[in-house]
Amino acid sequence: MRAPAALLALMLLAGPAAAWADAPLPSVERNFRFLCAQCHGPRGDATGVNASKQFEVLPANLTDGQYMAKFTDKQIFRTLTYGGPANNLSSLMPPWGNRLSEAERWDLVRYIRGLCHCKGIGEEAPPPPGS
Ligand code: HEC
Repeated sequence: MRAPAALLALMLLAGPAAAWADAPLPSVERNFRFLCAQCHGPRGDATGVNASKQFEVLPANLTDGQYMAKFTDKQIFRTLTYGGPANNLSSLMPPWGNRLSEAERWDLVRYIRGLCHCKGIGEEAPPPPGS
């Protein structure tokens, strides 16, 4: 009876620790890593595995504050929804409107602003999540 009790104690101790180690990433970060990082890179600096020189246009460097400040939050949201052509950009930037909810796309806009440490010129803040 001793061994199972010790085992149980171990499992109880290990349980919460293991759960903590596996804590899910915030959903915006999961979406970015899963859907965007292959082109834009895990840190957004355009070093994704798909960022091939054979792309006629390279993925935007989302950490480039000067470049990203040229887009308002609404423009970024439009690109995320309808793809690059919605802002006269390359169709190599895919549309996500059918894949991600509106709230998830706004979360990504805020996430991208965190990557570039920048704001769009003359832009009001995006609506709060879930609105
Ligand atoms: C298949 C590769 C690919 C994937 C996947 C991809 N992008 Fe892009 N993205 C591009 C390319 C290429 C451009 C540059 C378009 C241009 O400059 O004409 C771009 C441009 C952008 C821009 C700059 C344009 C703007 O309006 O601000 C943002 C922001 C962006 N992508 C965000 C994302 C996000 C967020 C995801 C994931 C949901 C994503 N991208 C997934 C290829 C990709």
